[in-house]
Amino acid sequence: MKKKVRGLFLVLMIGMAGFMTACGSDEASGGEGGSDKKEKLVVGTDAAFAPFEYMDKGEVVGFDIDFLDAVMKEAGYEYDVKNIGWDPLFAAVQGGKEVDMGISGITINDDRKETFDFSNPYFESTHMIMFGEGTDIKSANDLKGLKIGVQNGTTGQEAAEKIVGQNSPDISKYENNVVAITALKQGQVDAVVTDNTVVNEYVKNNPQDNFKTVEDPENFESEFYGLMFPKDSKLKADFDKAVKEVIENGTYADIYKEWFGTEPNTDALLEQAE
Ligand code: ARG
Repeated sequence: MKKKVRGLFLVLMIGMAGFMTACGSDEASGGEGGSDKKEKLVVGTDAAFAPFEYMDKGEVVGFDIDFLDAVMKEAGYEYDVKNIGWDPLFAAVQGGKEVDMGISGITINDDRKETFDFSNPYFESTHMIMFGEGTDIKSANDLKGLKIGVQNGTTGQEAAEKIVGQNSPDISKYENNVVAITALKQGQVDAVVTDNTVVNEYVKNNPQDNFKTVEDPENFESEFYGLMFPKDSKLKADFDKAVKEVIENGTYADIYKEWFGTEPNTDALLEQAE
């Protein structure tokens, strides 16, 4: 019995030693690299937002992921993508420990800029309303009196709040967009407000749902997505440059065409770039 315990102890010790060496060597390579040798970055996302990021056969894929890969190559970083969910993503980027940055169709706005840094913008977006057959919506104002589903903590939530009021009991906030759309399918809400590209993608892939859509440029402003960093991150400068370069050298257009079949309006993006 005693022998067995000691044996187990030994195995544990060896295991620990191995683990510690692994950590140690990792640190050493990061430490001695100097400024031009880059560490491996961890990029957080919420992979429930097709076509930007979603799960396919156990892997995170999407426009954002292809774009991220191009930008990482341009900036010279190795990276891993970590699917951690939307609300946790903001906490994780702010904390700066679990992830180094985020990509997730994240809209750049003044509110978020108080807590985070953003790269140059890489995608223009606006909001759209998606609803079922029995519902009649012609503009955002018709949302008044209806039950609205949004993803919690998104600019879609803000867009809905602008119409029906902050803290309106008619707004149901879901953990992710997939759950919000499921609620619409099941009739728990009358409409979902979310990013236009996501709505279009859903409708295209799910004709059996017979969902209808409405855009409303008078009520829903244009917004831009950016890579998100902790405040004062030293990564921002590298990625501002890389995002701009990938857009200017045509790589962005190639990826965009692959996903959307059309030419992107890169002028709109570059106008906003630093
Ligand atoms: N663009 C919106 C925002 O920033 C929604 C993004 C949601 N992204 C996601 N992967 N769930 O608030």
